[in-house]
Amino acid sequence: LASLEVDLSNIEEGSTVTMKWRGKPVFIKHRTEAEIELAASVNTSELRDPETDEERVLEKKWLVLIGVCTHLGCVPLSDAGDYNGWFCPCHGSHYDVSGRIRKGPAPLNMEVPEYKFMEEDKLLIG
Ligand code: FES
Repeated sequence: LASLEVDLSNIEEGSTVTMKWRGKPVFIKHRTEAEIELAASVNTSELRDPETDEERVLEKKWLVLIGVCTHLGCVPLSDAGDYNGWFCPCHGSHYDVSGRIRKGPAPLNMEVPEYKFMEEDKLLIG
């Protein structure tokens, strides 16, 4: 199946873009220092699906997610919700700046796809 090459140089700090890969949305968020600190400061024992932020990223400033809510598969809204991450309007799931489920019915964190950096500002997803 096809891989997706993403040029990161046009994604401004603080913003999130949505790409399409294998028929699914992929969120790429260029996190600010404050967002990186916020993601790292969470006590994982309080999480429904405990994962550290470090386990979910290769480079702290880039968060890459499959943009599908783990409840029933809606596409969450970026830069929204009570945890400064994503909000799923279908049934009210809130995800944090690491894409981890924090509130609402979704059981799991948003999935991180396989990806790697080809160059500093070039990603290959898949
Ligand atoms: Fe997202 Fe139900 S599909 S909360």
